[in-house]
Amino acid sequence: MTDRTDSTSKIRILPTGETIGADVIGLDMAAPLDEAARQLLRRAWMQHLVLRFRGQSATDEQLMAFSRTFGTLDRVPVGTSNDRDGIGDYVTVISNVVENGKPIGGLGNLESKWHTDMSYNELPPTGSLLYALEVPPVGGDTGFCNMYLAFETLPANLKRQVEGLTCKHDAAHTSVGGLRRGFEDVTDPRETPGAVHPLVRTHPVTGRRALFLGRRLFAYIPGLSLEDSDALLDELFDHATQDRFCWYQQWQAGDAVLWDNRCVMHRRDGFDNAARRVMHRTQFAGE
Ligand code: OGA
Ligand code: MN
Repeated sequence: MTDRTDSTSKIRILPTGETIGADVIGLDMAAPLDEAARQLLRRAWMQHLVLRFRGQSATDEQLMAFSRTFGTLDRVPVGTSNDRDGIGDYVTVISNVVENGKPIGGLGNLESKWHTDMSYNELPPTGSLLYALEVPPVGGDTGFCNMYLAFETLPANLKRQVEGLTCKHDAAHTSVGGLRRGFEDVTDPRETPGAVHPLVRTHPVTGRRALFLGRRLFAYIPGLSLEDSDALLDELFDHATQDRFCWYQQWQAGDAVLWDNRCVMHRRDGFDNAARRVMHRTQFAGE
């Protein structure tokens, strides 16, 4: 068959060799995909947690269409300027570029700390797809960590302890520490707004259990003193983000990286603000 939608035969999955991540070879994000190819990608995603697609060239409409393979599109984060009709509702711009005195996207050029996207929502997105249009020559690498392994390797006593606990995920600050538009600058983590989630989640598709953390800054474990909450959160974040659970993406323009927010945290290195970095992200609505 020469039908362009007959795509499964061309797709290959190449694991990174680390504890997380795989490259998908032979896939054009901008081309239509048949159901068999979509299933193959969803299975690979569940298996490897993070998928990278290199050498892509796609419009926002094509990015959105491809993203629907992995779920229903979710809206951009609260406080995000979204003056790009229609598309601006579902495509989040992550960028340090300033045009006419106005940033075209979020997060600037700063380092972003380990986090789970929009976990301050009651129903956080199940995943995100980040597509690089312009990248700096150095810096701005994005790290991903395997939160199944983070849970499975916890010492037994800690495992038991976290199974009974929840965590409040602060909604007021971004992963670079800035205050979101429309939020007050409360400094006590016990008083910041945000959804409360169990510290351990069972993944609805794989059935595996994962540690579920959002952002360290302003996180709080209800029921504990602030001191105990801080100490336990420090321990959990340190444990989860050990190098052995991580893989780093060094971006090339045309790379798209898909991750599962239910079992992956990510962070980003800072980069020189004289360079341009422009990324478009879709996110999939939580269930
Ligand atoms: C994101 C994010 C990382 C990056 O898009 O959710 O955290 O590399 N971005 O810009
Ligand atoms: Mn993020």
